[in-house]
Amino acid sequence: MSVTVAIRRYNSETGGEPEWVNYTLPERDRMSVLEAFMHIYENVDPTLAFRFGCRFNKCGLCAVEVDGRPRMACFTEVKDGMKIAVLGRMPVIRDLVVDRAAFFTALRELQLYIPEQEDAGHTQIIKEPETHKKLLLCVECLACNSTCPNFEFKKNPFVGPYVFVKLAQLHFDPRNTIDRRRQAKDLGITACTQCRKCYCIHGINLHRDAIQILSA
Ligand code: SF4
Ligand code: SF4
Ligand code: FES
Repeated sequence: MSVTVAIRRYNSETGGEPEWVNYTLPERDRMSVLEAFMHIYENVDPTLAFRFGCRFNKCGLCAVEVDGRPRMACFTEVKDGMKIAVLGRMPVIRDLVVDRAAFFTALRELQLYIPEQEDAGHTQIIKEPETHKKLLLCVECLACNSTCPNFEFKKNPFVGPYVFVKLAQLHFDPRNTIDRRRQAKDLGITACTQCRKCYCIHGINLHRDAIQILSA
């Protein structure tokens, strides 16, 4: 027995429309989507582009869309008939590889970090709020952006849920001196509060722990 999956292929260098290509895989107990990519790369088509790191649901690099929903490829079992594509609404380099550098470069001016001078001298241990601990589970897979109907990289100015997670993390950071709620308002968070279509594939409650916190 074998299983067949469809993978959406695209090359930003050659352009054109993305194309669905079927691949037949040997049926193997609990083969992950990432293992399927590796099988195709090693045995069928070495031009297939995909990204991975830890292979253990920790680094966020392998996030893709499986049957229209974001998933970690290394933590998702292959099933016959699956349709696998790159994360939606993000810039794409090739096949299943999002242009993370383009995305993070576009965020530079938002100052989503603690500036060096403000960091100096903070040595005391501070009890961390539970919400902050949850927010720090973010592995920067960027999958939440692909679930937000208001976000479309460079086509729509809305910043998307990933930025709100970062702002909420900074809001709770004892070293932060910037008003992150104000920043979130300036970035259009009021457009979010009724929608709730975004979700995190790593278990963070985006609405309660980021959007509501910043909208308060
Ligand atoms: S609440 Fe809606 S608009 Fe706001 S980030 Fe989530 S999906 Fe996008
Ligand atoms: S909030 Fe969740 S889905 Fe979004 S980047 Fe972080 S881990 Fe990924
Ligand atoms: S390879 Fe790191 S989360 Fe999948």
